Order: sequence, then C-alpha cells, then structure tokens
Amino acid sequence: MRFIEVGGFGAPEVLTLREGPDPVPEAGQVAVEVSVADVIFLETAIRRGEAAQWFDVRPPYVPGGGAVGTVSAVGAGVDPSWVGRRVATTAARGSYAERALVPADQLAAVPDGLDARTAAALVHDGVTARSIVTAVPPEPGQWVLVTAAAGAMGLLLVRMAREAGARVVGAARGERKLELLRARGIEAVVDYSEPGWTERVREATGGRDPEVVYDGAGGSIGRAAFAITASGGRFSAHGAPSGGFAGIGPEEADERGVTLYSLADLHQDGESGTRSIEEVLSAAAAGRIVPVIGRTFPLERASEAHTALEERTIVGKALLEVSR
Ligand SMILES: NC(=O)c1ccc[n+]([C@@H]2O[C@H](COP(=O)([O-])OP(=O)(O)OC[C@H]3O[C@@H](n4cnc5c(N)ncnc54)[C@H](OP(=O)(O)O)[C@@H]3O)[C@@H](O)[C@H]2O)c1
Repeated sequence: MRFIEVGGFGAPEVLTLREGPDPVPEAGQVAVEVSVADVIFLETAIRRGEAAQWFDVRPPYVPGGGAVGTVSAVGAGVDPSWVGRRVATTAARGSYAERALVPADQLAAVPDGLDARTAAALVHDGVTARSIVTAVPPEPGQWVLVTAAAGAMGLLLVRMAREAGARVVGAARGERKLELLRARGIEAVVDYSEPGWTERVREATGGRDPEVVYDGAGGSIGRAAFAITASGGRFSAHGAPSGGFAGIGPEEADERGVTLYSLADLHQDGESGTRSIEEVLSAAAAGRIVPVIGRTFPLERASEAHTALEERTIVGKALLEVSR
C-alpha cells in the first residue's frame, strides 16, 4: 500500500510517500481502506516535534488519526460483520495511508447517503465544535466572538452559535476569509491582523463586550480576545495555532469574573467519543451540520496540505483524498 511517512520531525517536506506491505489487524483491531483522511492543525504541530510532551509519537511514523473508509479485515475477537461497512474514526494508527489499523471499539458507522468527504470533515471538528457549544452554550441574543472563524472548526462554531440564537462576530485574518464569513451571512466580521481589532469588535457589538468567546487562535490573539470578554462571561481556550493557547491564568480569569474552559473540559474518548461521532454524522446526514470543505489534496500531496494549513491559505477544511 501507499502511505505517508514522517521520517524525522521538521518542515512539511518530511511528509514522504512510501510503499509497503498492507498492515494486518491484530486482536481487537480492524483494517480500514481509507477513502478520506482529515487534516487537522494538531497534526502539523506533532510533525514539527512541538507536541512531544502531550503525544508520544516519534519518527518514523504514519501521521493522521481521522479517517473515513471501509473495513476490509478484522483481527481475532472482532465481529466479522464489520467487514464491508463504511466507518469513521479518530483513532486510526496512521490515516495518511491507503490502509489503517483501528481499534474495533473506536469505529463509528457512517450513515447511508453521507459522503466520505463530509464525514471526514466532521470526524474531529464536528465533534469538538459540538462539545464546545455544549460546554459553553451561548444564550439567545448574547454576543459571541469566534477567533480563527474561517477555519474548519471556526466555521462550524459560527453556525452553531447562530443557530442557538446568538449574535456572532467572526474574527480571522485577511479579506478572503472575511469575505467567506460575510457570504455565509455572519452579522459582523473583524480582521485580527489589523491593529486595534478588538475595538472593531466593540464597534460591531454597539459597545458591548462579547459574553462568550470561542478562541480557536490562541496566543496574542486569544489574550486580546480575553481582554474584551464581558465580566461574567465565558471563554473557551481550545485553540493554539498561533503558537500556544491563550495562556490565561485562573486568578486572572477570577479577577475579571470570566469562566475559563479548556480542552480538558471537553475530552471524550472510547465509547462516548464514538457515540459522539455517530451523533454528529447523523446530524450531518440530516443536513443539520454542514462543514465547509476548503481544499482536498491527493495522498501524495500531504506535504502541500500541511504547508497550506501552516501558511493559513485554506478557508475551511483541508482533506486528503486517499482512494476513490
Ligand atoms: N479539530 C479539532 O477537533 C480540534 C480539537 C481540539 C483542539 N483544536 C484546536 O482548534 C484550533 C483550530 O483547529 P483546526 O484543526 O480546525 O484548524 P483550522 O481552524 O482549520 O486552522 C487553523 C486556523 O487558525 C488560524 N491561525 C491563527 N494563527 C495562526 C498561525 N500562526 N498559523 C496558522 N493558523 C493560524 C487560521 O486562521 P487565520 O489565518 O484567519 O488566522 C486558521 O483558520 C487549533 O488550535 C486546534 O489545535 C481542534
């Protein structure tokens, strides 16, 4: 099979196409013929060697955990009726590959009629976005500020917040991204690469500080967003692409009367994680969750996908098309 290997931590060029034998599922595993793998920002951080304190991944390795595909074989102790079924997972051991091994208890069924791209675009982002909005629900009429709003998860959060009846300011970098947000009917957009952007947020809200902030950007963008979070408001610090999380201490938050939420408040794995994927995919099949797919890349161009994500040229979701 063809697969992408990271031979050593580094720039996107370390993502190299290789050929090797098909992996064989061990007890409790299945093999999945991957149709589409998702590309998430975290995977770029792992590849750069910047996530070693959280993830025990060392080169050489096959990147990617999110995949949609068809089960082609099962290991000992696994129900053989999985073979031939379309599945989605975030637990693939290397989804940048034509064939990936997945623990059998981490498989979500893909509803009939839901295309593989849509399912792959939601397998991580849809579940996380829904967890964030569940943990930090906006009330109707409240102002919500979403940073990295034109990213894959940001666009889902914008939509979910609007559906909850909130008023949303989407913040992103550059006119192309703001244009997409406007085209999707968002009430207000702000470019956070421009100085004084938080004042633009206040202008958009008529002087009100946002009661809810979904920070997908982190770093100085996240800190600036925290500075204008309303007293009594809530701040979800789930994003780190600008080099780290917003890094707000609990005392600082207490002083401002802001409740902080981190990824630890959202974590789901095992059975509940799989159930969440199935719920999100059912909602997608019913048209209630719709991802924005920005670009798809063939497997062999995985390095271009990482480059595009790191250079911030993708609007919406990046996917790897592995097989058709
Ligand atoms: N996907 C998930 O399930 C999941 C789970 C847990 C945490 N998260 C976190 O949520 C955030 C968004 O994740 P995602 O995978 O959906 O990515 P994404 O939002 O599709 O892409 C990252 C976004 O971050 C913004 N950004 C700000 N500063 C950046 C920088 N220095 N370099 C690159 N991008 C920068 C970019 O928008 P602008 O160019 O407009 O700034 C871009 O839209 C990430 O921090 C990720 O770790 C995601």
